[in-house]
Amino acid sequence: MPTKKKANEKAEIADIEKPAAPVEKAAKKAPAAKKPAADKTAVKTAEKPVRKPAAKKTSPVEKPVEEPVKKAATRKSTPKKAAKKEETVVSAPVEESAPVKETTPVEVPAAPVEAPAAPAEPVEAPVEIEVAPVDGDLPQPRRSVAFIGSECYPFVKTGGLGDVMYALPRALTKQNCDVKVILPRYKCIPWKYQEKMVYRGEFYMDLCADGRSFYVGIMEYVWDGVVYDFIDNEEFFSAGNPYISLVDDIPKYCFFAKAALAALNYMNWIPDVIHCHDWQAALVPVYLRTLFAGTPVGSAKTMLTIHNLRFQGIYNIPTIQYWTGLPDYVFNIDVFKQGYQDANMLKAGLAYADMITTVSNTYAGEIQTPFYGENLDAHLRHHSYKLRGIVNGIDVELWDSSKDELLDASYSRKDALEKKKVNKKALQERLGLEQDEGKFVLGLISRLTDQKGLDLITAILPALIDGNTQVVVLGTGDARYEDAFRWFENEYKGSVCSNIMYDESRAHAIYAGADALLVPSLFEPCGLTQLIAMRYGTIPVVRETGGLKDTVQPYNQYVGEGNGFTFDRYEAGLLLDAVNRAKTVYFTERESWDAMVLRDMDKDVSWDNSAKQYRALYLELKP
Ligand code: ADP
Ligand code: GLC
Repeated sequence: MPTKKKANEKAEIADIEKPAAPVEKAAKKAPAAKKPAADKTAVKTAEKPVRKPAAKKTSPVEKPVEEPVKKAATRKSTPKKAAKKEETVVSAPVEESAPVKETTPVEVPAAPVEAPAAPAEPVEAPVEIEVAPVDGDLPQPRRSVAFIGSECYPFVKTGGLGDVMYALPRALTKQNCDVKVILPRYKCIPWKYQEKMVYRGEFYMDLCADGRSFYVGIMEYVWDGVVYDFIDNEEFFSAGNPYISLVDDIPKYCFFAKAALAALNYMNWIPDVIHCHDWQAALVPVYLRTLFAGTPVGSAKTMLTIHNLRFQGIYNIPTIQYWTGLPDYVFNIDVFKQGYQDANMLKAGLAYADMITTVSNTYAGEIQTPFYGENLDAHLRHHSYKLRGIVNGIDVELWDSSKDELLDASYSRKDALEKKKVNKKALQERLGLEQDEGKFVLGLISRLTDQKGLDLITAILPALIDGNTQVVVLGTGDARYEDAFRWFENEYKGSVCSNIMYDESRAHAIYAGADALLVPSLFEPCGLTQLIAMRYGTIPVVRETGGLKDTVQPYNQYVGEGNGFTFDRYEAGLLLDAVNRAKTVYFTERESWDAMVLRDMDKDVSWDNSAKQYRALYLELKP
């Protein structure tokens, strides 16, 4: 009998309920068209092609592919002196032969698209990108997609966004999508990747309201059918961490969004769809429909995926207006403006995107309510006609316990029950916990922030430690949680181990060695740790919110179904109850527990189904 949960999982892209009463204007259209011609920058961008800096004699696009791999030495910082105005390269080239792939009329463009002016100088033939051969079995037609986001495993990752930026493009290549991923070239990207990057070109781009010019380098890395293009600029991307503080991050991601579009024009690679991720790439749809409207890349459609609505890129209007160089008319309440004096980059992107998605169906509904809406619920209700929820998957090759070299004992479902014990003992030994395979080991792998329900965990932790239970924490984040977990480790030596660090290999060891994984989040757009846990036969204990609700079916002892233990209201007592239910099954009904371990390992947590749904949306945008 199909359960409600299964029906949910099988559902195609579920439309979000239409709002009963949109708070903002009800018209289902992009923000009111304004006249970009009134904006000097817009005219300039649309009319001028990308030109090489005058100092350069040959175009960097001439033969970068044949050239030997150029290493980081090509990295340049912004010229201290602004280039002469006439030498300043404007964002986008305009070519008569621009490969606009579809002739489908542009649907209600937000800003009038002006006919691109003829190029002022000939632009050399674009470098052809190797395209994976089209397999006869692949779904047709082929679609090209540019992913734009701020992190991507294995180059740089702080959380699940990095996993998705890695795994979804790979899954899309199997759906006959040609994917290019555009990322900042942060200095912290390990050298082993940097040294494999190939110089692809460079140009100068004006960015700010006063037309300051910035260097944009493009370094390319092709790997497993996916092309990664890194936007290079030492001034913006030289910190040790992608995110520093808003003061630094706002200019950085204004630059990144505009440079990514300019790079697509420069490379003459015009995708069907530009798929942007989170606030760091949210300006892309805004630039595309304003300053880039008359350029080749202006023919692309945009999708903006919300991975976490809490982060929006909010700063005062003068600062964002200065750095973006965007015209006055977008700084209104329907697009950028929030409250009296702030501009919100995510809000603007949501207004201009052709399609909005988020990473689970439940979260897509939740964010339209005040509790989860982070002050954008009304805006999202207004745009709900173009909002969809598609649950994340995980890369099942990367997360494969039978081939995982980071484990003490790799295992498949055949020997999971035995080998998980071996991994548990190895974990206990490595972490200085009492070595006893009979103990119930609870894991937590998480950013240590309010989102993750950590106050519930700290509230019940003393009640969990009963002599038969061990708790293993892996995470970094807010000092108060880091300190609390350090304190618990000290207080319950041998039973609690707090690893206040980011460590991929330790994460693998915990996914394999723990019996259950805690994810009691206050909100969780999707959550990947519960998916990885299930794949490794570790039972998730989750709060029924966002993607946790969509991916973990509660255990039902009567019919022997379900994948984990769940609770609904955000209350410590309910979390404790859920953990105790898990322990009861573990200690007194081991056969049922073991059956659930195997059921979880069998569950499809791959990207296959969701990648198909994304493909369907790309086709909806570009039929
Ligand atoms: P979020 O993106 O909100 O942080 P997700 O559950 O979507 O949460 O993704 C978290 C990802 O980061 C998972 O791949 C998880 O294994 C990983 N992760 C989180 N904290 C750590 C850590 N301290 N060390 C290693 N990996 C971590
Ligand atoms: C965000 C969310 C998380 C989601 C991840 C990837 O960081 O917090 O729930 O799984 O993005 O989409």
